[in-house]
Amino acid sequence: MNTSKALLYLILFIMASCAQPKEEKEIVYSYVEEPHSYAKPNNAFIKHLNLDIVVDFENEIISGKATYDIENNKSRQIILDSKHLNIESVLADGKETEFSLGINDKYMGQPLTININQDTKEITVVYKTTKNSEAVQWLKPQQTADKSSPFLFTQGQAILTRSWIPIQDSAQIRITYEANVQVPKGLMAVMSAENPTVKTADGLYHFRMNQAIPPYLIALAVGDFSYKAISERTGVYAEKSMLNKSYEEFSDMEKMVSAAEQLYGPYAWGQFDVIVLPPSFPFGGMENPRLTFATPTVIAGDKSLVSLVAHELAHSWSGNLVTNATWNDFWLNEGFTVYFEMRIMEAVYGKERADMLALISRQDLDDELENLKDAPNDTKLKLDLKGRNPDDAMNSIAYDKGYLFLRTLEETVGREKLDAFLKTYFKEHAFSTMTTEKFVDYLNTNLLKKNNISFNTDEWINQPGIPKNQAIISSYKFKNVEHILQEYITSGKIDKKVTEDWTPQEWVHFIRNFPRDMTADQMKYLDDTLNLTNSSNSYIQMVWYEQALNHEYHGNNVDAKIEEFLTQVGRRWYVETLFKAFKRNDRIEDALKVYEKARPSYHSVTAKTIDDLLGYKPDQETN
Ligand code: BES
Ligand code: ZN
Repeated sequence: MNTSKALLYLILFIMASCAQPKEEKEIVYSYVEEPHSYAKPNNAFIKHLNLDIVVDFENEIISGKATYDIENNKSRQIILDSKHLNIESVLADGKETEFSLGINDKYMGQPLTININQDTKEITVVYKTTKNSEAVQWLKPQQTADKSSPFLFTQGQAILTRSWIPIQDSAQIRITYEANVQVPKGLMAVMSAENPTVKTADGLYHFRMNQAIPPYLIALAVGDFSYKAISERTGVYAEKSMLNKSYEEFSDMEKMVSAAEQLYGPYAWGQFDVIVLPPSFPFGGMENPRLTFATPTVIAGDKSLVSLVAHELAHSWSGNLVTNATWNDFWLNEGFTVYFEMRIMEAVYGKERADMLALISRQDLDDELENLKDAPNDTKLKLDLKGRNPDDAMNSIAYDKGYLFLRTLEETVGREKLDAFLKTYFKEHAFSTMTTEKFVDYLNTNLLKKNNISFNTDEWINQPGIPKNQAIISSYKFKNVEHILQEYITSGKIDKKVTEDWTPQEWVHFIRNFPRDMTADQMKYLDDTLNLTNSSNSYIQMVWYEQALNHEYHGNNVDAKIEEFLTQVGRRWYVETLFKAFKRNDRIEDALKVYEKARPSYHSVTAKTIDDLLGYKPDQETN
């Protein structure tokens, strides 16, 4: 380079740096009180994670190190959450530093307090998971679809990420991350990040998540699966025997993403993929960014259960972009998501289908209110979960009452105004957290006052039960189903033909609404005529088995079918519904017999729920 050119560059460089003075972005330490994390982010918080781990299937241990870039508000300590982890050493800016682990709380785990100084920029924790790391489930080949390779997946929500990564495990924290993950050759690894679409030769995978997410959305799955694209930005990961079925089932995914964008603005995360996990996955779906984790029980063969995909997709706005500040504000994640789910379903599959889903949600709400009749505080939208395990206390109120709140709001202000409001709400609060109170303020200013509308928001949010102004939900398809059920009850007969083009939702509605005094003989007639025990739709199976238990029906080998279902499927909602029915009908002994067999294949989240339900005491585990 000659001198004049060098001089020119120098001048240009100086001009550029003058024009854009590098403004240090002011950091606001405004975290609200968090009942489920030890972290004190107002003192010091993490902002980027560099994770370097090895996944060891033989010993069922994840080991490695987590390095964090931190922001320090003149503090001498930073506190992370840790649960059932072996912490080996801790470094501050590359040098060993002192740390201490506090007492172990059953739900929250232990605070990991690390000594830093005022200008520490980076901390590193070297650690290993243990047998009790609840987020992680290690599966034997036998527990997978293809039965030939082991599998691992993690479940972070609500407060389990700390059991596989030491971290500030609060929904108010947002971090970007990178990860190096070493898995056995021949397996693939995926995360809530930019993902591979083919296996690497050496089993080493590198991940990057450049958008800041809360720790409960960090997720990992490892197994022998492959990828099939549906559109440029959507696709599925599944084991070989599930790949084509999953691809067919989810082939409307691109349509769903477009419909969602039409409603509430651009999809912010680039890619939207789904991984179909083995059947022990404890949830229907989990909205891990860029890669939703899903139960194989949604693969029904007829797209009848894909509202689950609409639901997890909706979380890409409500939950992942705008995140509930604490688990007390959980309804901001789930209520908005159910509302949004119904809107996506309406846009893609029509109003008839959306009406049925809305009415199922309405009936779920009634059932949940009945379950909680002795715990009215748990029927408020805004919860108080301090001292409780959020995983136990987060019931379907947040979903179904949250939905009814928004649906009622829609009817009050009109769809157009509500949509415009929601679109701006997501845009203005993208990549940030929301408290219930902040939302109420925003709603008052930007929707209600602006349009001179009064609405009993406070009653909806802070009072138990359902306010009187609730929207009335109806479905003519379901009216017809109710009519046919009634006819059967009076005449003792049903013509199979009238049910011929029923969707699974209609079947579910039919079965759920059996009168209390329906006899085992009436059940037998229905089973023989309509072949219900042999249904292959997991949702129909669940509600039919529940009724078999409620009505003491034992025909057509249904008891064996129930046992098979409970030992194969670990989806908590299904499993809990059935064990509750055993209990309700004084069959705890039978339930325990089945549970003994099923429990070893359940993820900790499901096992914990059923342990509590049946009063089952697992062998004392250590660490
Ligand atoms: N985020 C939830 C799952 C969750 C909630 C995990 C609370 C841990 C704690 C997910 O989006 C969800 O709601 N899944 C539902 C399915 C949905 C269609 C209602 C489920 O798993 O049943
Ligand atoms: Zn959800």
